[in-house]
Amino acid sequence: MDVEECIKTRRAIRKFLDIDLPKDKIVAILEAGRMAPTAGNLQNHEVIVVTDKALRRAVAEACLQQYWIAHAPVILVVVAEHEVQKMHYGKRGETYSIQSAANVAMNMILQAHALGVSSCWVGAFDEEMMRRSLGIPGKVTPLTVIPLGYADEQVPIPPRKSFYSTIWLEQYGNQIRDVNLALGEYGAFLQGKINKAKAGTEEQVSRIVRHLAKIIPKKKPKK
Ligand SMILES: Cc1cc2nc3c(=O)[nH]c(=O)nc-3n(C[C@H](O)[C@H](O)[C@H](O)COP(=O)(O)O)c2cc1C
Repeated sequence: MDVEECIKTRRAIRKFLDIDLPKDKIVAILEAGRMAPTAGNLQNHEVIVVTDKALRRAVAEACLQQYWIAHAPVILVVVAEHEVQKMHYGKRGETYSIQSAANVAMNMILQAHALGVSSCWVGAFDEEMMRRSLGIPGKVTPLTVIPLGYADEQVPIPPRKSFYSTIWLEQYGNQIRDVNLALGEYGAFLQGKINKAKAGTEEQVSRIVRHLAKIIPKKKPKK
């Protein structure tokens, strides 16, 4: 599966088969998270792997009673220490910390999908309940919960906004009218124009030749 297919076919799955995940796949998914880009390469994130049944139930409870989460054989909880980023980047550090942890989560979700493992990004939870359930210290913030398992449902792609309604050119609000023209994909567009111009020129030349042939007297052959 290439990256485009992986991105396009991944779906949020909320129903899982009662089948354990092989260790190799879990490790590969965690490795993908480890490779994610983080601000200043500070890697101020950590991932808690939750497999224990009672703890999975506690995590689901903390996720505002989204009990379907407990049916996933593995739950990953991405946490981050914002202070590490803040020490380097001041106030911006918290934003960087959240963005970096989001990269870790998304890398793992995509790697999981590429390995045939489904998941869902879960952001709705009670932070304090999550801390208590998993022994997360105060300096570390839980950010994303990722239940992992084999899908027991097929879901259609939830509709996305149109391309042209969310992408601007050069300035905010500046609509793209022709993506080929705007983004420099001139190939097909220009070839069409060149072909048209060539056909027009050829037509004109043959018209001139026909006209000249009529008005220029033919040379008499020498005797
Ligand atoms: C930041 C964030 C928080 C989310 N929180 C939840 C959640 O708490 N529960 C849930 O079922 N889905 C949650 N989702 C999943 C979205 O509902 C889902 O990704 C979206 O509907 C698009 O569907 P798709 O992932 O299949 O493309 C969350 C997604 C994101 C990015």
